[in-house]
Amino acid sequence: MTGASAGIGEATARVLAGAGMRVAVCARRRDRLDRLAAGISAAGGEVAAYGLDVTDAGAVRAMVDDVVSRWGRLDVLVNNAGRGLSATVEDTKPDEFRALLELNVMAVFTATQAVLPWMRRQGRGHIINVSSIVGRRGVPYRGAYSATKFALGGLSEALRVELAGTGISVSLVYPIGTATEFHETEARRAGPGPLGPIQSAEHVARCILRCVRRPRPEIYPFRPSWLLAIASVIAPRLADLGLRRLLH
Ligand SMILES: NC(=O)c1ccc[n+]([C@@H]2O[C@H](COP(=O)([O-])OP(=O)(O)OC[C@H]3O[C@@H](n4cnc5c(N)ncnc54)[C@H](OP(=O)(O)O)[C@@H]3O)[C@@H](O)[C@H]2O)c1
Repeated sequence: MTGASAGIGEATARVLAGAGMRVAVCARRRDRLDRLAAGISAAGGEVAAYGLDVTDAGAVRAMVDDVVSRWGRLDVLVNNAGRGLSATVEDTKPDEFRALLELNVMAVFTATQAVLPWMRRQGRGHIINVSSIVGRRGVPYRGAYSATKFALGGLSEALRVELAGTGISVSLVYPIGTATEFHETEARRAGPGPLGPIQSAEHVARCILRCVRRPRPEIYPFRPSWLLAIASVIAPRLADLGLRRLLH
């Protein structure tokens, strides 16, 4: 589970551990991971914590190898670590965009490549990538962030078909605005923050648990948001209009 020191990742680690699964968690803030791990252990769960930056490919590969040598297998990878940016496309600096791509896309690619050999050997596995509803339909002031989540969609859809018949599933999770630190830690130079309804990290975590138990290609924790995905394909002008209305 990447990005488990806060928000959706932390809630998901607790929910999976509560359901009796062994969880390996990682993030940069070691103190928060240690707190999470202590809570899971106190509740009788089994947990391994790794303080690392997921953009460090060597550290991610070493973590995956360590998890397999510790527990003998690795059944599920949840690629959750991610960051946003609220700025117009015109005002997005190339370095900001590159940093988002490194974290939201390249780190997912690295972790996926690291687990695949083990999952192939096991003849089963599940890769769950946490995208965003803005990875289905670009929204104003989130162009660069949306682009990273669209990239995740392309990568995951291709991989799912490439892995058909191997016993390895690939799922995409499309949360809407979620009450976490996300909107405080991202740089915001434009836009109003999250649009529309807000869901809890625990709700998204429970959706991820259901997906672990019963792998599905796509999960929309707020079901009606699926309509935005459909509207953007069949009536993009209508989707534009809806977003403009929502903004004003
Ligand atoms: N919140 C929303 O409204 C929302 C909506 C749709 C999708 N999402 C997606 O959901 C996922 C989780 O977001 P969240 O809302 O839970 O955000 P959050 O509360 O800000 O948590 C982000 C997590 O990612 C970790 N992280 C960030 N950079 C990292 C790095 N370089 N290496 C390792 N870990 C890193 C953070 O830990 P450290 O800082 O300790 O490293 C933290 O644990 C993200 O992919 C986000 O794009 C969020």
